[in-house]
Amino acid sequence: MTDQGFPVEEIDTSRPHPARMYDYFLGGRDNYEVDREAAHRVLDVAPEVPASARANRDFLGRAVRHLARSGIRQIIDIGTGIPTSPNTHELAHSVSPDVRVAYIDNDPIVATHAGARLLGTGNTGFFLGDMREPATILDHPTIGKLIDFDQPVALMLVSVLHFVKDDEDPAGMIAAYRDALPSGSLLVLSHATGDFHLDHVDEVLEVYKKASASLTARTHAEVLALFDGFELIEPGLVQVPLWRPDGPEPDPDELRGISVYGGVGRKA
Ligand SMILES: C[S@@+](CC[C@H](N)C(=O)[O-])C[C@H]1O[C@@H](n2cnc3c(N)ncnc32)[C@H](O)[C@@H]1O
Repeated sequence: MTDQGFPVEEIDTSRPHPARMYDYFLGGRDNYEVDREAAHRVLDVAPEVPASARANRDFLGRAVRHLARSGIRQIIDIGTGIPTSPNTHELAHSVSPDVRVAYIDNDPIVATHAGARLLGTGNTGFFLGDMREPATILDHPTIGKLIDFDQPVALMLVSVLHFVKDDEDPAGMIAAYRDALPSGSLLVLSHATGDFHLDHVDEVLEVYKKASASLTARTHAEVLALFDGFELIEPGLVQVPLWRPDGPEPDPDELRGISVYGGVGRKA
């Protein structure tokens, strides 16, 4: 059994899994041979992917510190991923230790690591849930314990919406979360795109199709539309290294390899 009461034997290690491939791209150890083989098929055609994964993770870090500094004290982080330090609660607590974080992922392997690496401070929680079922997530007891919907909330959908297909209505799904949040709440969103790698995006998507979740890359206009009902804060929706960089603006060579858009929107 995992910490979350999930039987370990239900973890599918026969097919590559995007969360474990992402862990491999980030240099993590929570992946299997089948994931590493698929990751190398991606790297053969798209050697820039690890740089995108790291840039996405750095965007997550800057965005969480920003929201904690701007007074947000509660976060719903959907699509948590295999824990990668610093995790959302560690980043938020580096600004203010009273930030509460509810983590949700639909992957049992994330649950197996959640106990040791995501919990333990008392003001964090994790549960297995599917973001495509907003009512189930919003009504979960862990959300009830950690999140006060009378106060602004940050909803994090970081590098996860590309696992929702167009016919699963990602915009309608986000609207259901948005309607539950009070004004002043923030949406932190990042999303894979093929805009900069039109030559090999299809080959990358083909590898993911064989994995246990397919990936939908979206254009800038399509990702922007997902912020409906939120006002983007500066600098808008950009390639992730361009979102409020800690140091100097990244140069064009660095940006060429980054296939992820990110932005933060505020509900009026
Ligand atoms: C690429 S990882 C992103 C991890 C982290 N948010 C980050 O940006 O570093 C995507 C995560 O989303 C999870 N995921 C995919 N589809 C999901 C769904 N329908 N509901 C909840 N989580 C999902 C995967 O299991 C995986 O752990």
